[in-house]
Amino acid sequence: MSKRKGMTMRNIIFLGPPGSGKGTHAEKISQAMGIPRLSTGDMLRENIKKGTQLGTTAQRLMDAGQLVPDEVIIGMIRERLEQPDCAGGVIFDGFPRTLAQAEALKEIASIDAVVNMTIADERIAERMSGRRVCPACGNTSHTDWMEDAGCPSCGTEMVQRKDDAPETVLERLRVYHAQTKPLIDYYAAQNLLRTVDTDGPVQQTEAKVREALR
Ligand code: AP5
Repeated sequence: MSKRKGMTMRNIIFLGPPGSGKGTHAEKISQAMGIPRLSTGDMLRENIKKGTQLGTTAQRLMDAGQLVPDEVIIGMIRERLEQPDCAGGVIFDGFPRTLAQAEALKEIASIDAVVNMTIADERIAERMSGRRVCPACGNTSHTDWMEDAGCPSCGTEMVQRKDDAPETVLERLRVYHAQTKPLIDYYAAQNLLRTVDTDGPVQQTEAKVREALR
């Protein structure tokens, strides 16, 4: 079991609506614990970039704010978990997102904690409109604290994600409430849920996440 900086969890899920801060905080915890972050969104975008068959299927659904089929996602995660760097634990970012995915995960990995990131729907559109991502290194930031359009890590011009268009964000939120929110009760019933309100400055949320994982 990984034991770094006071955090003793091994396999951790970051659950929450689009824009709640899963990616931002999953990455911080991944670095603090020295275990990989498995973001299904990033894996899908990587497939789109490489022009794979999986990427072609996923792109249409992602651009429409819909979920990619469970079997595609489960297959992708199953394959990734077989890689040696996952042996000491992983951070799941944006997976599972349906009850079927959660049930499949139960068969392949034991879960130690689920961080449930919460924020009001009204605040999400605001966050998404300012989010910028680096097309080269995948870094995420926000116009509120960017000095210019350059990525703070590699200097490449940061861009807006296509699915951050306001109408697509609304559809992603609808999908979250219909298909992903039931996972809150699912994991609460297993006594794994640790809820963190993310409506505040990043450093404040980071401290809350660390506390939740202590
Ligand atoms: P994915 O890329 O996973 O998108 P998402 O879940 O909708 O989440 P986001 O990446 O939009 O937001 P986030 O919660 O990571 O927030 P962030 O940290 O960036 O998935 C995209 C698509 O892929 C899905 O719609 C679906 O089609 C498909 N897909 C992926 N996984 C799937 C699965 N398992 N099953 C089926 N389909 C799947 O923060 C947001 C912004 O807020 C940033 O700009 C950040 O800087 C800012 N911010 C402001 N204040 C804070 C604060 N206090 N904490 C954190 N961030 C803050």
